[in-house]
Amino acid sequence: MRRPFPACDPVSRREFLRTSLLAGGALALGAGGLQAAPLPGKRHMLVRSLRFLDLEMPMDRLGAWITPVELFFVRNHMAEPYGLDPDEWRLRVAGEVERPLVLTYADLAKLEPATVVNTLECAGNGRGFFRPQVPGVQWERGAVGNARWSGVRLRDVLTHAGLKRNARHVAFRGMDEPPGKVPAFVRSIPIEKAMHADTLLATRMNGTPLTKHHGAPLRAVVPGWVAAASVKWLAEIQVLDREFEGNFMNPGYRIPRRPVQPGQAVNHNDTDPVTALSVKSIIAQPAEGAILPLAPVRIHGAAWAGEHDVTRVEVSIDGGRTWQPAQLGRQQARYAWRLWEFAWQPKSRGEYALRSRATDSAGRTQPLAPTWNPGGYLWNVADEVKVRVEG
Ligand code: MTE
Repeated sequence: MRRPFPACDPVSRREFLRTSLLAGGALALGAGGLQAAPLPGKRHMLVRSLRFLDLEMPMDRLGAWITPVELFFVRNHMAEPYGLDPDEWRLRVAGEVERPLVLTYADLAKLEPATVVNTLECAGNGRGFFRPQVPGVQWERGAVGNARWSGVRLRDVLTHAGLKRNARHVAFRGMDEPPGKVPAFVRSIPIEKAMHADTLLATRMNGTPLTKHHGAPLRAVVPGWVAAASVKWLAEIQVLDREFEGNFMNPGYRIPRRPVQPGQAVNHNDTDPVTALSVKSIIAQPAEGAILPLAPVRIHGAAWAGEHDVTRVEVSIDGGRTWQPAQLGRQQARYAWRLWEFAWQPKSRGEYALRSRATDSAGRTQPLAPTWNPGGYLWNVADEVKVRVEG
């Protein structure tokens, strides 16, 4: 009997069309921006796209250190694989290995379990803030979430297969359905990151089986790196003697080595793939345009730094002229964000530009002004929201 992989959102065709229409209406009508669409299991999310599904977490929902699955952003380049049967699913491991493998779900379960708490952020999170505008999904702050990922270590699988001496990169292929001439979603990571004890093949998220939106039955979790490295719906792992060269590695997901002007031609030899995340903070509340009473205000948000630790978050209430330390939340883990908060007592009515900026253990601090890039990747300017204090 065909049993689908665990999916909290089994959407029937009728329901999909209904929610598409509803969301389409919301998008068309919502002059003030995107509105939440009632997608099953993801009902509070902002719909950036329905084909293919891109959902952003609304900032007024950011409160817990671990992001619940129903609030976790979704980024799909193509259609999610349909009708997966766990009994038929196989993971192929091939390429520069001594013993190519074909693994079942049960085979993976025999390996030592491993867990990592990792903040997953889309490389394009914040793209919507670049000026001039950059094509692509216009994410603002919420293409990020912090989850507890569990499964097995990629290195245990690779060790089982036996790496050849020329093994340099490890490519993952997802099972999603490429439309038309679009190639399959394949991305690679260097062998050192693949063999790191924290790089996982995950079957669970926040203690429950992965849902389909998040890559069931198996996804890569490459901690501290842009989420594009964490390939979902894994079907195949290829060990290569060089970086994978397909569309989603080149020209996709690359950033110029030197700053470029908007419109300036970029030679691909002068670009690097996006890898580790930058240091970054976001203000969850108050929201942009909020009208606040002349009373104490809790400014709060989250900050992360990829493979490094957040050491400090500062807040400015005067657009970045002066800064005061925010209080960091107690919960922390190596690749996980820190929640932070700042108690503000506005002294008078008026307009305020609230800003937050984080510093990390590598000594990096968020810049106050952006460096434009044509892909709109790695936006990490000190966050800013404008509010008005009224009586
Ligand atoms: N894996 C496959 N197979 N197909 C995809 O489209 N999108 C990537 C990555 N893995 C993608 C994928 C990108 S760009 C992001 S940001 C993350 O998945 C999003 O993970 P999430 O949807 O679980 O939040």
